[in-house]
Amino acid sequence: MNRKYFLKQCGLACLSSSIATALFNSCVTQKAISGQLVNTDLVIPLDSFLVKNKTTDYKKYIIVEHKQLQHPIYVFRFSENEYSALLMRCTHQGAELQAFGDVLECPAHGSEFNNRGIVQNGPANKNLRTFPVISTNNELKISLKNV
Ligand code: FES
Repeated sequence: MNRKYFLKQCGLACLSSSIATALFNSCVTQKAISGQLVNTDLVIPLDSFLVKNKTTDYKKYIIVEHKQLQHPIYVFRFSENEYSALLMRCTHQGAELQAFGDVLECPAHGSEFNNRGIVQNGPANKNLRTFPVISTNNELKISLKNV
């Protein structure tokens, strides 16, 4: 095996590995966690965002559900103090959305929304329902006042 051939094979192997990892990460769906309803807030511990067995790595988003909600809520972590909370109900005809990283997709007709709930692709033409989020005392409070 000559040097040039060897380097080419190594490069292809590294590239394939990177692509496979990226595809795997983008396809992994998250298991929903249950929020606790306190008055009109859905409360979750902030450490729900921590990657298992890590103390400094955070998940980009989590999905929160509660038996009184017809659809789960997607909570995206932009930073320690900035979150978005979006109802996972498509604004086209009400199908439940699926989260793929920072994109929410509708399995019914293909609408897509970004991590702030803004329509990226139709047929939906309205943004997602959003909720105010406050982080305090190691908890995240999602206000459901007007659900
Ligand atoms: S219900 Fe989501 S695109 Fe139609």
